[in-house]
Amino acid sequence: MSVVLVGPMGAGKSTVGPLLAEALGVTARDVDVEIEAREGRAISDIFVDSGEEHFRALEKAAVAAVLAEHDGVVSLGGGAVLDPDTRELLVDHQVVFLRVGLSEAVKRVGLGTGRPLLLGNVRSRIKALLDERAPVYTAVADLTVDTDQRSPEDIVAEIEKALP
Ligand code: S3P
Repeated sequence: MSVVLVGPMGAGKSTVGPLLAEALGVTARDVDVEIEAREGRAISDIFVDSGEEHFRALEKAAVAAVLAEHDGVVSLGGGAVLDPDTRELLVDHQVVFLRVGLSEAVKRVGLGTGRPLLLGNVRSRIKALLDERAPVYTAVADLTVDTDQRSPEDIVAEIEKALP
């Protein structure tokens, strides 16, 4: 079983993951990083060269593999929970939704370089994604943690205290 971090881009999943793992004495894996390593190209290149649908298929397989073999902390890409089979797999894990408000998310992703879904207008794209996905993150989560104006260490401490 793993502690799985879900939430939108800019929620801090990749930053909090390794810190939480260290606090819990386990290791962290980041599905986006593993997809890039396996493919030998950046996620933005996968989107551009092969399309979002292809990326989602790679993502689904990578999430299933990591959840099946890893016992620790897992950070998912922001869109992974949109897949119903992935949501089903999450039932067997401790899922933490890192919640972030619009302004803070925009600040954290900056110009959105490397995040293909934000191309165009970062703020309006993030707003649309937050509005559309917040109910999905809430539905899969055992725990929801607000991350606005908080340090990664503070967030880790809250998760650690709340875990069963
Ligand atoms: C995506 C989020 C990204 C990455 C891809 C798609 C999304 O991960 O998987 O660009 O659909 O929200 P992060 O949430 O780690 O930025």
